[in-house]
Amino acid sequence: MTDLAIGMIGTKFMGRAHANAWTQATRFFDPPITPVLHTVAGRDAAATDAFAARWGWQHATTDVAALVRDPAIGLVDICTPNDVHAEAAIGALEAGTHVACEKPLADTLAHAAEMTAAAQRAAARGVRTFVWFSYRRVPAIALARALVRSGRLGAIRHVRAVYLSQWGIGADDVWRFDAAVAGSGALGDIAAHIVDAVQFVTGEQITRIAGSLMRTYVPSHTVDDAVLFLAELDGGATASFEATRFATGHHNAHGFEIHGEHGALSFRFDQMGRLAYHDATAERAVRGWTTIEVCDGDAGHPWVGAWWPPGHPIGYEHTFTHQAADILDALGGRPDDALVAPMPDFAEALQVQAVLEAVSTATTRRAAVDVAEITESCVADS
Ligand SMILES: NC(=O)c1ccc[n+]([C@@H]2O[C@H](COP(=O)([O-])OP(=O)(O)OC[C@H]3O[C@@H](n4cnc5c(N)ncnc54)[C@H](O)[C@@H]3O)[C@@H](O)[C@H]2O)c1
Repeated sequence: MTDLAIGMIGTKFMGRAHANAWTQATRFFDPPITPVLHTVAGRDAAATDAFAARWGWQHATTDVAALVRDPAIGLVDICTPNDVHAEAAIGALEAGTHVACEKPLADTLAHAAEMTAAAQRAAARGVRTFVWFSYRRVPAIALARALVRSGRLGAIRHVRAVYLSQWGIGADDVWRFDAAVAGSGALGDIAAHIVDAVQFVTGEQITRIAGSLMRTYVPSHTVDDAVLFLAELDGGATASFEATRFATGHHNAHGFEIHGEHGALSFRFDQMGRLAYHDATAERAVRGWTTIEVCDGDAGHPWVGAWWPPGHPIGYEHTFTHQAADILDALGGRPDDALVAPMPDFAEALQVQAVLEAVSTATTRRAAVDVAEITESCVADS
């Protein structure tokens, strides 16, 4: 069994989620590689030392540049605000180190393109990149993808995706409101998740933003507090998206409905163990919505068989453990198509970032924008 030394940057929300995931991955799954909690970096020395002691990291540092270039480290895991992603990722890739980066890939499309170019150069040396679009590894979302791929829905006609949260109301000044750090607001922070989820489940890409609206409610915020947009998918479906941090009454309510010619799927994260399925080909007298409890490993439900017997729910943190285990499988040589769900790399996350940029551009222009125009412009610039 090979060891993989992890160097993680950031110790708060995602730092905790990832430290837990690397710790749990080999306890519940059997990847061919064992992660070693080698070094964690944070800005505050005492707090980083305390974090390292609590989670079992061998070393703690405030020197991010040194961590990124440390030859002892095999994978750099980036859990910082978005403006730090590019420098850390490119430094690690140039040093020949695998990178797992939080989403959105970067604060700006230009940085995301530079990161992807660095990833392409490093790939020639066998270096891999991964992006933590962690909701792909909610078992019900992965099952939704499998059902679409099996043809149960037929051609996809209509998609509706929402990400509603309320934490922005009365919140203190945090980096997520600052364009210089975050790049964008609700757009990159939470719309990114539902853009990825819709493309992941349908297997189709967003090609055009037909119209969009971005609003900032609090004058001191330099990013969007809420965003709504209409999109076209390359299979011909129409889609609507909403993302806000000002939806009074919702903490983290996201989900989607996908309607195809033969059926429909409905998922909501506050019932993450369930997937609703409507079979439009069923006998008319009994046609309706079926609620699938996605908890049965023997039935082929992804990942759940590694945890508890059916009916004993798993939660948010498990999705990160699934991703950590899948990263270790991928690095251990497991082919991508043998993974339950494809693993997003920098190139795929760049495509999501281009969709987000198209939304922003459509808002500024008050006109429809083709994602290809944005993609071509960032290739030309890089
Ligand atoms: N996959 C998901 O579901 C998910 C959820 C939340 C956040 N995220 C993403 O994860 C990233 C981090 O978000 P978070 O919620 O953990 O933020 P956070 O504010 O909770 O933590 C950020 C951490 O980064 C550190 N940091 C900030 N600037 C730094 C710098 N210059 N050098 C070194 N460390 C620095 C902070 O000290 C802190 O430890 C963001 O890109 C965010 O979009 C993803």
